Amino acid sequence: MVKPKIAPSMLSSDFANLASEAERMIRCGADWLHMDIMYSHFVPNLTIGAPVIESLRKHTEAYLDCHLMVTNPLDYVEPLGKAGASGFTFHVEASKDNWRELVQQIKSKGMKPGVSLKPGTPIEEVYPLIEDENPVEMVLVMTVEPGFGGQKFMPEMMDKVRALRKKYPSLDIEVDGGLGPSTIDLAASAGANCIVAGSSVFGASDPAHVISLLRKTVEDAHRS
Ligand code: DX5
Ligand code: ZN
Repeated sequence: MVKPKIAPSMLSSDFANLASEAERMIRCGADWLHMDIMYSHFVPNLTIGAPVIESLRKHTEAYLDCHLMVTNPLDYVEPLGKAGASGFTFHVEASKDNWRELVQQIKSKGMKPGVSLKPGTPIEEVYPLIEDENPVEMVLVMTVEPGFGGQKFMPEMMDKVRALRKKYPSLDIEVDGGLGPSTIDLAASAGANCIVAGSSVFGASDPAHVISLLRKTVEDAHRS
């Protein structure tokens, strides 16, 4: 059975206090910390890069689940590997010509390779990366247009999650965008087990409660 992984998106945290925000999330029961890396080309927003991951790594041993919203993910493998990233998820739209090399490089730096797809990208585009002899180990299905926190969950993306879960029963399937108490049922019952949640966790008066609710919903869905 796939394990639930609840990953608060640090994009919604107080960036001026990143280390203590990370510690707070781990204390609240987070499994992973989701780190959104963007630099205004692939998406219209600018966030953090390897130097910030390197600084944060000095304060936490947590799994840093890095989501690369960049046009040239290969350029980030070495710096992020050195910085102490744990997962490296690139976008299929940005790696059409070099995903084999990317996966190989990511693994050689000791990180877990994942592939993500935007809402408009058909799910079939990631199948070759899962079925390759050197496969990705996670698929991140975007449930909003990447770029910003606080957007509305797109339920129609659950068809992609269902198709993936049917084909790959033990694959880590992550969803990202608009996840929280009111949308987790849809995502969990479709088959997602890694849940990114930014505004619903950081905006809650009791983040630990939200994290445990997300986890329990995933556990219950995968048990039935
Ligand atoms: C959006 C990012 C998300 C974002 C999610 O491009 O990939 O990780 O922080 O935020 P919420 O949960 O608020 O939709
Ligand atoms: Zn993300």
